[in-house]
Amino acid sequence: MDHFIYRNRQLHCEDIPVADLAQKYGTPLYLYSNATLLHHLRQLQTAFAPAAPLICYSIKTNANLHLARLMVENGCGCDVTSGGELYRALKAGCSPSKMVFAGVGKTDVELTQALQNNVLLFNVESEGELSAIGDVAQSLKTVANVALRVNPDLPPKTHHKTDTSVKGVKFGLDIDTVLEFAQKVAGHPHVRVVGLHMHLGSPILSVEPYRLGIEKGLVLIDKMRSQGHRIEYLNMGGGFGIHYRKQEALPASAFAEIIVPGVKRAGCKLILEPGRFIVGNAGILVTRVIYTKESGGKHFVIQDGAMNDLIRPTLYDSFHRVWPVAPAANMPAPPEDFEAEIPGTQKVDVVGPVCESGDFLAKNRALPLVQRGDLLATFSAGAYGMSMSSNYNGRPRAAEVLVDGGKDRLIRRRETYEDLVRPELEV
Ligand code: LLP
Repeated sequence: MDHFIYRNRQLHCEDIPVADLAQKYGTPLYLYSNATLLHHLRQLQTAFAPAAPLICYSIKTNANLHLARLMVENGCGCDVTSGGELYRALKAGCSPSKMVFAGVGKTDVELTQALQNNVLLFNVESEGELSAIGDVAQSLKTVANVALRVNPDLPPKTHHKTDTSVKGVKFGLDIDTVLEFAQKVAGHPHVRVVGLHMHLGSPILSVEPYRLGIEKGLVLIDKMRSQGHRIEYLNMGGGFGIHYRKQEALPASAFAEIIVPGVKRAGCKLILEPGRFIVGNAGILVTRVIYTKESGGKHFVIQDGAMNDLIRPTLYDSFHRVWPVAPAANMPAPPEDFEAEIPGTQKVDVVGPVCESGDFLAKNRALPLVQRGDLLATFSAGAYGMSMSSNYNGRPRAAEVLVDGGKDRLIRRRETYEDLVRPELEV
C-alpha cells in the first residue's frame, strides 16, 4: 500500500499532483509520502507488538534527517554502521540507548565515539573487532555490551551483492566457530556478550530464511547461555522485501508469525533493523524527459535522472516501475504486470545523461510514448536511492521533498555547483 495514486490521469503524492511539485522544486526530485512511511512502520509495530520489539530504523537506507527524525518520533531507535551514521542518528534525536552499531570495519575512533555515547549494543563481526572493543572499553574504564553477529550459512536468498548470510561473505562470525569464540570471551572484564545478531540479506521475499535463521539462533543462544553468557537480545536484522515489480512483498505479519514465537522461545528481547520495508515504497524519483532517440534498432528515452541519483538498476540490475506522471487518455495507470504485453506501449531503455552505458533506470521496458518535457516517475525509490547517490559527472544531488496530506516540505535542497567544489576550495 502506498499513497502515490493516479487521479484523473495525474499522479498524486497523497493530495498533491506530482507535476505541481516538479514545477515547484525542479527535477530530478525525490518525493516521499509521510502517510506511506508511517503506514509501513505501523505495520511492523503492530505485527511484532506481541514481542514488544525495539525497532532500530536502518539509517543507511535513507539517512535524511527529517525522515530519521520522523522514525525516532514514532518510537524507533537506529541501526548505524559508521561514525557518520551515529552522528546523524544523534542529530535526528535518537537516544543512544536505542542504537545498535553494526559493520565489519568499525575503527577505534568510531568505537570510542559509540562507547562515549553509550550505545545499546555493538554487533560484533570478528575476533579482531572484539579485542579492539575490549581495548577501547578498558581505556574508557567501561564495559561494552555486544551481540555476536553470526553468519548462519543459509542458502542464497537474494541478489549476491546483498546476500549476507551465505558462506564466504565478509559478514558475521562463522557459525561453525562462533561458539568457540564465545567461550573465549566469557568473563572478559570489558566486554559483556548479551545478544545474538543476524542480518540475513536484503531484500527477502520469503519467510523461510527467517525460519531457518531462528532455528539455528535458538540452538546457539542455548549453548551461549550454558557458557555463562546472559543473552538478553535476539536481533534479527532487517531485510523484509517490498513491492518493486508488482505486489510481491509479504506483509509484516508473515515475518512476525515466524520471528515472534522464536524470540519468545529464546526468552529474549527482540531487536529489528528494518530500512527498506519502511521507506522503500514511500519514495519516488521524479524526472523529466530531455530527448527521445532511436539508435541501433532501439528506442531510448533520455531523462534527467541518472545512475548518480539512483544506482540500483546499474549495480544490481534491479527493477523499478517507471511510468509517466501524466499518462495519455488510453493509458491511465501503470500496469499490474510489466511482463505482459501492454497495448499502446513501446519497449524503450530509460537512460540518463551520465557517460556510461550502464547508466539506466529501466531496460527494454514497456512505456507509453513520451516526448521532451514529459515527467516520469520511478517508483519504489525511497530505499537506497538518495542514500547511495553521488556527484558523478558533476551532477548536483537531487532535492528531497516530504509530502504530508496537502502539505509539501523541502527536506533537502538541491545541491548547487558551488556545493560540488566547496570541500576542495577549503584546503
Ligand atoms: N541491518 C544490517 C546489518 C544491514 O546490513 C542492513 C542492510 C539492514 C539492517 C537493513 O536492511 P533492509 O531492512 O533495508 O533490507 N543497497 C542495497 C541494499 C543493501 C543492504 C545493506 N544492509 C539495495 O539497494 O538493494
